Amino acid sequence: MTIRKAVLPVAGFGTRVLPATKAIPKELLPVVDRPALQYVVDEAIEAGIEHIVFVTGRGKGAIEDYFDLSFELEASLASKASKADILLEVQKTRLPAGGASFTRQQEPLGLGHAIWCARDIVGDEPFAILLPDVIVKAEKSCLAQMVEAYDKVGGNIIAVDPVPEERVSSYGVIAPKGERDGRLIEMSAMVEKPPRDEAPSNLAITGRYILQPEIFGLLSDQGAGAGGEIQLTDSMARLMDMQSFYAYEFEGAPYDCGSKLGYFNAVLAHAVDHPEIGDGARELLAKL
Ligand code: UTP
Repeated sequence: MTIRKAVLPVAGFGTRVLPATKAIPKELLPVVDRPALQYVVDEAIEAGIEHIVFVTGRGKGAIEDYFDLSFELEASLASKASKADILLEVQKTRLPAGGASFTRQQEPLGLGHAIWCARDIVGDEPFAILLPDVIVKAEKSCLAQMVEAYDKVGGNIIAVDPVPEERVSSYGVIAPKGERDGRLIEMSAMVEKPPRDEAPSNLAITGRYILQPEIFGLLSDQGAGAGGEIQLTDSMARLMDMQSFYAYEFEGAPYDCGSKLGYFNAVLAHAVDHPEIGDGARELLAKL
């Protein structure tokens, strides 16, 4: 079955980047000239996703407005010939009618709980999850690469990225099983923040998933795990006993915008490659 729907959980408080996120959703912080979330939505659309399910919460209403038609703004831009290019950019932010749903997670009880909130909208079909904290800079969208792999092997697939071994204890990593097939690696377990000498690999879990709908049944009775939150990883570990699970080492560079330094890194990387300001950005950096 093709992957038509993607869930984007955006209900977290973004405490690591407070106070910037006090009144603005973290997902709308700009990376050069567009919100971080726009990059992630573009990635999903490039992968053929037809319906995006946003799991939002209080104070996140600006996300819904951002992807809607802004009638007054577009009418004003359309009345000025010099603003034609900007109008086009603004129009691209609209999601197609009926192509997005918004459901609320009343309390941020954890990523697993946020995904479970999307169960009725996703229904009984495999689906993708994209954590909007992570932007992946890639020739071909990270999710599109995963969908291609999914068309070959089916089951469940999670994106992984190699990290330096001395930093492995800061990540969730996978335990490989058997031979590797190109970028696909069958896996037997996930280990959260292992000590370096006990890490089963240096392949860090990176915020992109393709999962089978049976995950929802498991999330329904998933108790709180690490940090007192309902963890997606705990239910994925149970699903792994029932179905095949692969890791996919994607081609591209992930930027974690959920932390101050990661966000800064994302802005720099996108600024120096930007067609309009790239040269200027490199000059400024050289001066610094
Ligand atoms: P994070 O833990 O990175 O996001 O969750 P956060 O809670 O907003 O960040 P900090 O730790 O307080 O700084 C990864 C993604 O899952 C969503 C977040 O919005 C983020 O996009 N999430 C997390 C939810 O939607 N609900 C939750 O209960 C937890």
